Amino acid sequence: MDGTRSAAPISLERVRKQYPDGTVAVESLTLDIAAGETTVLIGPSGCGKSTVLRMINRLVEPSGGLIRLDGADVSAVDAAKLRRSIGYVIQHVGLFPHQTVRTNVGTVPRLLGWSKTRVRERTEELLTLVGLDPDRFGSRYPHELSGGQRQRVGVARALAADPVVLLMDEPFSAVDPIVRGRLQDEFRRLQGTVRKTVVLVTHDIDEAVRLGDRIAVLSEHGHLQQFDPPARLLAAPANDFVREFVGGERGIKLLAVTPIPRDRLRPAAAGGSVAGVVVDASATLQDALAVMLREGTAVVAVRDGDEVVGTLTAEDVVAAVAAPADAAPAEPVHDGPVHEGPVHKEPAHKGEG
Ligand SMILES: Nc1ncnc2c1ncn2[C@@H]1O[C@H](COP(=O)(O)OP(=O)(O)OP(=O)(O)O)[C@@H](O)[C@H]1O
Ligand SMILES: [Mg+2]
Repeated sequence: MDGTRSAAPISLERVRKQYPDGTVAVESLTLDIAAGETTVLIGPSGCGKSTVLRMINRLVEPSGGLIRLDGADVSAVDAAKLRRSIGYVIQHVGLFPHQTVRTNVGTVPRLLGWSKTRVRERTEELLTLVGLDPDRFGSRYPHELSGGQRQRVGVARALAADPVVLLMDEPFSAVDPIVRGRLQDEFRRLQGTVRKTVVLVTHDIDEAVRLGDRIAVLSEHGHLQQFDPPARLLAAPANDFVREFVGGERGIKLLAVTPIPRDRLRPAAAGGSVAGVVVDASATLQDALAVMLREGTAVVAVRDGDEVVGTLTAEDVVAAVAAPADAAPAEPVHDGPVHEGPVHKEPAHKGEG
């Protein structure tokens, strides 16, 4: 592991923000954000999400309460210094238009006085990490990039000085749904590598479920309605506000974050080899159901490595997510298949419907 300062917890204690015109953006928010996790803030427009982010890096000063970063009161830290230890990504990226991609990415390291060589090395490393070939993109200007590429440069710039925290305010909302999906996949891959403390703001419940280790649902004035992992939020919304917010399709969303229940599989056929459709044990219930629908079958074999460990039926899938709300949901998963799904089928024909 590379050192101790790669991620830090954040705690908000009865944090309040009243803007000078009297608007109470956040009334009294208490929230513990774990180090190395992605915490998503979601809620209706104007409920105070951006204000919360901006109080963490002190672009906005709280009117009350306490914010600690790694245990230390942020109001006691020099604001400029604080901001250099916190990456910040916003919707329209905010790249410097007259600087090249490389110069943009190297901004904070230069401010920190890194040597030219070190800045250069770090810049190349970061661009590669976010999937942009430095030789191809490094010398371009922001207007010579697509929206998705600009967004990735924004993420690279935010990560450049290895910040302990990454704040992301609707980072993927300005791009079309296909690019957004790709950026979300990339974000998950990246976060799997860097494991920063990420606080991500979104309007989009699907994005929240895909990216969040925990989701904080806020209502007006920054009132916290529920703070839970995605599976818990979907399986057991705390109240009508949350239920409405996650929407009528929460059963389907829940499938996507629920792993195949290993302990509830039906026994595999004797001999352990099953002809027909096979799903990897690491798949989610959504993957399993998708395969059933595609293949026109109501039963799949579940495989772990080379071994068939049981079978799963469509009925089992329904039963697994239709459990009573007070039952604890299965352990949430976040990294279902991203690129290559763990879903295989034995017959070699194409079954796309
Ligand atoms: N500088 C400001 N002065 C006065 N009121 C402000 C200021 N900035 C934000 N507000 C108000 O504070 C409330 C919260 O704003 P904030 O930008 O935090 O909401 P948000 O949840 O990020 O909304 P959105 O989803 O639309 O981005 C809103 O009512 C907004 O109008
Ligand atoms: Mg906002």
